[in-house]
This record gives sequence, structure tokens and C-alpha cells, in this order.
Amino acid sequence: MIPPFLHPFARPAAENFVTIVRGSGARVTDAEGTEYVDAMASLWYCNVGHGRAEIADAVARQLRQLDAFHTFEMFSNEPADEVAGILADLAPVPGSRVFFTSSGSEAVDSALKIARLAQAVRGEPQRRFVVSRRPSYHGVTYGGMAATGLPANQELFGSMLPDVVQTPKDDLEAVRAVFEQHPGQVAAVIAEPVIGAAGVYPPQPGYLQGLRRLCDEHGAWLIMDEVICGFGRLGRWWGAQRFDVRPDLTTFAKAVTSGYLPLGGVLVAPAVRQVLESDASLVLRHGHTYSGHPAACAAAVVALDIIRREGLMDRAGKVGDRLSTGLRALHADGQIADVRGDGAVWAAGLDDVDAAAVRDAMLPHGVIARPIGTSTISFCPPLVIDDDDIDRCVEALDRAVSDVRKRAVG
Ligand SMILES: Cc1ncc(COP(=O)(O)O)c(C=O)c1O
Repeated sequence: MIPPFLHPFARPAAENFVTIVRGSGARVTDAEGTEYVDAMASLWYCNVGHGRAEIADAVARQLRQLDAFHTFEMFSNEPADEVAGILADLAPVPGSRVFFTSSGSEAVDSALKIARLAQAVRGEPQRRFVVSRRPSYHGVTYGGMAATGLPANQELFGSMLPDVVQTPKDDLEAVRAVFEQHPGQVAAVIAEPVIGAAGVYPPQPGYLQGLRRLCDEHGAWLIMDEVICGFGRLGRWWGAQRFDVRPDLTTFAKAVTSGYLPLGGVLVAPAVRQVLESDASLVLRHGHTYSGHPAACAAAVVALDIIRREGLMDRAGKVGDRLSTGLRALHADGQIADVRGDGAVWAAGLDDVDAAAVRDAMLPHGVIARPIGTSTISFCPPLVIDDDDIDRCVEALDRAVSDVRKRAVG
């Protein structure tokens, strides 16, 4: 029977779903009582692992004291102010301010709007163009979808946001050409430090710094989309620090609360905030009902403290070393075609087996991974995953690839 819940990124005609009922650490359990290793930190977000009572307690305390009150105009709340202070201290560029959203897509849209607004306020309203990459993933709202470099995600949704130009990943000359074709008209370049949901591709050495240089030469802002890379995934607070780049705008979401409640946002570095603050009569006509929601911000305060206190950024490197060593051994055995990643986010490239079939075949082996397209299986486990469960992820992939091959022959 088709259920009432119309699922995201699923076939509307699909009838069968796995109902997850509880989680603890790097494990989740379904309604049948089957336990799985959560090899994807759910959807690239649960860095601190599942079942943290102290986050639940902080949220409950906040909801009992003040459920919510909006932050438009003159109003604020204590958790939003507190987590803004924490994020400003952590920001890749000192002196940043924080704009809040509830999701990564809203964060990307907010960054695109702030980028264009700041260009207009500094006297360059003709700067409308946004350069993004192919492949890339920046979300599903019209702004985020237009920036996303995955043609399948744009099909059948009508016209995209105009003035978005995509260049192939790692191709600095293509970005330079866009600047030359549209002189004085580019507002911003947006890039993920490591391309995540579009396939897990780390940047070529020097590429991100090259983007920074081109933005400086041509008067554009650099937006780093850290929705996956932020908060320890690459062994530092930010991918920007991992690759030594200085963004003007930084989008974040996911692991800011490790997903316990929805929260996202944009770090606005001094170069941009000073433009916005320079006109005392300017009103930022942008914001969401739940920007700075106190319960989500209360969750973030604790989730960020856990990452710091438990040294999870250091753990990311160890998780990545063990996972990538296991994947490379599968590659050496001819089980998988390619291994790529950085920090604690990795992918196995497949050639003769379908990624969705491999994901399905991993479930009976007790691991939930994620297919990307037809030829990639991604891994982005909670940073608290232990060595046995990392090995279990690799073994499950190994056995699933064999199972799918056997079925194809049989
Ligand atoms: C880099 C990046 N940007 C934006 C988004 C969109 O975030 P959300 O799904 O919270 O809207 C994602 C989601 O995976 C992402 O990985």
C-alpha cells in the first residue's frame, strides 16, 4: 500500500520503507528490531552519533522555558545569541557574523541573496552572476537547485534561477573564462570544499586557493558551502581551514546540531558584513520564521561542545584512515573500481554493479550506506564510530558487491 507520507528523493509510487525507530552511537535499529551500522551519519549530519541524552535534555529544558519566539527586527533569544557567539569564534574568518536558517538549501539561498545584496549595496548592482561547479550539490530550493551541478535534479522543474553558470570541477581556466565573458558582472563563486552528495570528490591541490585568487582579481565573493564539510568532517572545524582558503560567506547546516533539530546558516565574513553595515538605513529583507529557533540553537550549543570536548575532529582522520585503507584493499582485490575521499568522507566507485542494488544488498549485512547515481557508494559515518563498525562497513560492501554479481550471473 502507498503510505500517506510522500517521501523526499523517492519514487512517489514506492510502497516499501524501512522505519528506523531508535539510535545509539553509530548504530540505528528498525521497527523489526534489526540493527544497522549508520555508515552515512544518517544523511551526512550525525557527527556526534545518535542517542545523546544531553542534547535531548537541553532541547527539553529550552522548550519548557521558551518554546520559540521569532528573531525578526528587534527580537532575539538566548540560545541564538549564544550559538552565534560560538560560531563567530569558530568561523574560518575572524570577525564573522551569523545568519540562521533551518536547512542547508535555505543557507545556500541566503548566501546567494546576501552576495548579490552586498554587491548592490557597494555600488555594483549589475553583479548578478553566480558561478558554481559540475558536479556539485547545493540543495533543492530554486537557488540551491540552480547552483547544483546535477542536471537530473533540475529536470522537469521549469526555469532555473537566471545568471547561474556552471564550470567543470577543478577547472580554474573555465572559471576565469566566465569572469572574462561577464566582466564586472559576477557576484560570487560557490564551491563545496569536498564535493559531497554529488559524488565525493576532493579538490585538486591549489584549486580552491585558485578560486580565491580569481574572486579577488575580479571583485566577486567566494562562498564555501560547508553543509557537509563543516564541524569536523575533514578533521578541522571547516573545510576552508583544511584547504587553507578564506571564504567571504560560509554556509553550514547538518552537523551544527548533528541533526538533532534542523538548523543551518551563513557565516558572513567582515568583507561582506562591513558593506551591509555601512548603510545605516539598509534593511536585510530576508529571513525565515524559524531563523534562530531557540530549541535548535540549544541543540547546537551542546552538539558543538561534544565535538570539541570529545576531540571528534582528531577522530575524523583516524576514521578516514581505517575506512580508506579497507576500501583500497577492496580496490586492490578488484571488487571496486575507484576510491576517493578526504577526512571522514569516502566513496567507492563501482563499474559492473549498480550502486542502488549494492546499497540494498548491504542492508542484510547490517550496514546502511548511500548510493550516488549508479556507480558510487558513499560513506560518511558518525565520528564516534568504532574500528569494528568501520570494518563492518567495508566487509558489507565487499559481500554486497559479490552478492549482486552472483545474482547477475545466476
Ligand atoms: C553541500 C550541500 N549544500 C546544501 C545542501 C542542502 O541541504 P538541505 O538538504 O538541508 O536543504 C546539502 C545537502 O546535502 C549539501 O550537501
